[in-house]
Amino acid sequence: MKQDLLTFANWTPEAMEKLLQLAVEIKQAPASYSNVLKGKSIVALFEKPSLRTRVSFDIGINKLGGHMVYLDVQSGKLAGREDSVDTAANLACWADAIVARVFSHTTLETYAEAANVPVVNALCDKYHPCQGLADYLTMFERFGKTKGLTMAYIGDGNNVTHSLLIVGALLGCNQVVITPKGHEADADVVAHAKTLAAKTGATIVESQELEAANGADVIYTDTWLSMGDDTPLEDIKATFMPYQVNEALMEASGASYVMHCQPAHRDLEITGSLIDSDKSLLMQQAENRMHGQNAILTQLLSA
Ligand code: CP
Ligand code: NVA
Repeated sequence: MKQDLLTFANWTPEAMEKLLQLAVEIKQAPASYSNVLKGKSIVALFEKPSLRTRVSFDIGINKLGGHMVYLDVQSGKLAGREDSVDTAANLACWADAIVARVFSHTTLETYAEAANVPVVNALCDKYHPCQGLADYLTMFERFGKTKGLTMAYIGDGNNVTHSLLIVGALLGCNQVVITPKGHEADADVVAHAKTLAAKTGATIVESQELEAANGADVIYTDTWLSMGDDTPLEDIKATFMPYQVNEALMEASGASYVMHCQPAHRDLEITGSLIDSDKSLLMQQAENRMHGQNAILTQLLSA
């Protein structure tokens, strides 16, 4: 039966650990994987803009010996032309897998049901699983482990937060999620992540206080306004500014590194100088998007 990758929420810690190790292996020995997607074509359908995800999938698929067809829903005038169920069923006639970045998670569920080929979530309103995998791969490379480490996420509780919670819980990484009041991570995701964390011994703490980041190994932040959120920056800036990730915060927390999925907004959620500092893992995270995704595609398509 075909397998999709929409959330990682139904994965076991063992399966997650195995996927992380596959990513490590593919990164170390890419030549051994250069025919994994030989003769295979993957459609990448994007309802929202992208730099990292689009390019890392395209180049990564090429490195695995496959071929990617990119569909920009907006400029291709595909939005609203037909039902999602019909789009997915048609794409599955030609493609060996569908990678999709969509506004609503339910669109991915529709695709997964309608297409008899694997569907991979390239970001939706609720999750960003490929980002989560790349980020823990980055931590694994830096610390030689993920279990027992602590990540403090500071900012808006969003799709990236949710995937960091799920993947981190499966990999035994403690999480501290610090958000302003009213911008918390979704309660259902936090609750589910806690059930996963119980299996690995990881802890999950939510807070509105920056002091909760003290003792963390890494500080992570993301944009205050995700794609699709039309709230004017000026309306939320005063609420979020105290949560800016900057040098003083890094110093106070004692964290070794700072992480951000990008695109970053210099001197809003993170200072530009911190992005450019030797504490920054941003480019390693970006590079690892490709290796993580190639592990996902290898797992889904070479079974
Ligand atoms: N981090 C990330 O998904 O970046 P893009 O939106 O540029 O793909
Ligand atoms: N939370 C951000 C992540 C971008 C990669 C967004 O959804 O816009």
